Amino acid sequence: MVASARTEPRGSMAMELTIGDPTLMARLERGMDASEERLRALAAEARDPYVAEVAGHLFGRGGKRLRPLLALVGAEFGERRPERRPERRPAAADPSAAGASATGTAATDPSASDLSAAVDATVDAAALAELVHVASLFHDDVMDQGLTRRGVPSVNARWGNTTAVLAGNWLLSKAAQLAAELGPETIRLQSKVTNRLIMGQIRELVGPSDDDDPLSHYFTVVAGKTAALIAMALQLGAVRTGAPDRVVQALAEYGEHLGIAFQISDDILDVTSTSEVSGKEQGKDLAIGVASLPVLLALADERPEAGELRALLTAATAAATEGTGLPKAVALLHRCGALAEARTVLHARLLRARTALNGLPDGPATQVLHALCDFVARRDH
Ligand code: IPE
Ligand code: MG
Ligand code: MG
Repeated sequence: MVASARTEPRGSMAMELTIGDPTLMARLERGMDASEERLRALAAEARDPYVAEVAGHLFGRGGKRLRPLLALVGAEFGERRPERRPERRPAAADPSAAGASATGTAATDPSASDLSAAVDATVDAAALAELVHVASLFHDDVMDQGLTRRGVPSVNARWGNTTAVLAGNWLLSKAAQLAAELGPETIRLQSKVTNRLIMGQIRELVGPSDDDDPLSHYFTVVAGKTAALIAMALQLGAVRTGAPDRVVQALAEYGEHLGIAFQISDDILDVTSTSEVSGKEQGKDLAIGVASLPVLLALADERPEAGELRALLTAATAAATEGTGLPKAVALLHRCGALAEARTVLHARLLRARTALNGLPDGPATQVLHALCDFVARRDH
């Protein structure tokens, strides 16, 4: 609710936003808890204890939980907003919490069961977005040889690549099942986003062709691997509560820009942030030769540092960036201005995200989306 020091591996993003509406924040936090509970229950559905343990490895480990938060915020734009709904699970009911009075209306209000269904579907939408995200993290850490995720060993580090790929697939199959329960529009969104995400990862893996401009290739990659799911999470929530089409469209546009800005901030943090702060290894993109934005910008024109950086990155990349190599590459990226330039690109994207918000009604939910832009802006170093 208040801006605080960065605590990414532990706290959800909702806790770090500066929002003026405590009722909304309480509702979002309850929704986040309920979606987390839903995720744990989904992992337990595996029955097989090995699958349940691996699939559930990253649930409850903190993380920013941006995607479920966005699904919940998206749901605020519909007519069947979750605030008046009764709690489905008695254990989660908090009589002092805002909206609890709706429990009393549930028996008499003919629309109460509709509202209840809308809320459960909203929580399911949040869980669905996180399922797809966590599946993509399992696969991404195999691709990137990531050993640490959310402050703990990655699935591939602990159980090996084959298990990580299969468990990621298992999560995607659960996401498909959940989407099928929610209806055709959700299936359409979920299948499309899975496709875009995988295409983004494959394009990153293959790299630009000789005819491609590396920077345009980068933006195609990040639109697929990151922005697609961020936009989809918002759409999913909004569709679940019956938001008008133009609102769903504005949310999608905002999400596409926020998602790209978010990935740029991730690229910058790969260079600048320690693993204690990020919950991942520092300099992983540099070490494995992933073309992050600062590196692309550094290599884009003939700066004096470009040759040195190219040599550092190409000559046995991993070895070169270990030990003294990494600080050297980081210093070079600072010195040649590429990190500053990446920040400028990030802030331009955030401006586009904020502009898309002009298509939304004023109100606390839109304020949350502005606050998310502020959050990503603060994440640029
Ligand atoms: C992020 O991949 C997008 C997905 C997880 C699909 P990256 O490789 O850029 O991100 P981190 O740094 O490992 O989280
Ligand atoms: Mg990756
Ligand atoms: Mg990665």
